[in-house]
Amino acid sequence: MAVGVFDSGLGGLTVLDALQKRLPEVPFVYFGDNAHAPYGVRDADDIFALTCAATERLWAEGCDLVILACNTASAAALRRMQDGWIPQDKRVLGVFVPLIEALTERQWGDNSPPREVAVKHVALFATPATVASRAFQRELAFRAIGVDVEAQPCGGVVDAIEQGDEILAEALVRSHVEALKRRMPHPQAAILGCTHYPLMAAAFQEALGPEVAVYSQANLVAESLADYLARRPEFVGAGQVSKALTTGDPKSVSSKATQFLRRRISFESA
Ligand code: DGL
Repeated sequence: MAVGVFDSGLGGLTVLDALQKRLPEVPFVYFGDNAHAPYGVRDADDIFALTCAATERLWAEGCDLVILACNTASAAALRRMQDGWIPQDKRVLGVFVPLIEALTERQWGDNSPPREVAVKHVALFATPATVASRAFQRELAFRAIGVDVEAQPCGGVVDAIEQGDEILAEALVRSHVEALKRRMPHPQAAILGCTHYPLMAAAFQEALGPEVAVYSQANLVAESLADYLARRPEFVGAGQVSKALTTGDPKSVSSKATQFLRRRISFESA
């Protein structure tokens, strides 16, 4: 049994880490498409093609269930994939919905009409492609009314993280938070809508200030997967072995991943 976890690069490791802690008995196969990162500056067709190729690779590893631990792929490709591309015996899940359910205080599967929620002013930090898709606002509108969302496309941050340049990534985070605050001076909550950004969580929190609640996805996705597998155990696929695959250079990806996760992780060629 194994579950697939996909990201354009290193960001999905934040989700993988939480998944491994929450479900230690489940083997996970991670696929980082580092050779093609960042996805956030690509167009929707390109993101769709790359995400489908990675998903097929994870199916070939015996992972019947694949988590798109990438907001950009979830926003730009998941709907199209679910629209007839995914075979009956496979599942592909995104990372948006667990986060929005947490923000709007909903349980899984609560499809009641949208209602007022406590949080009124939300800052969304995401890649240019995720912001352009407006997928976050669309999912939120199904569940909540009267929430003002100000979205900041954070150009350059994923690239800096993929290069292993933490200093540049921190500087870019500060400048994106400043730009957001010029348009929304007092957000109540901030969403880290890219799985790379929790690697810079401290920089976001510091620039936003202690009064802003910062939401990131890793633990929410882990809880949601544990719940899903309890209901649908048949989707833990046939794979037996945990591994990490990359389309990039395994040596350099392993070293950056170890730097960011602060524990040793070894990648092999996809
Ligand atoms: N971690 C991906 C996300 O959550 C980054 C996308 C990119 O490669 O730009 O959006």
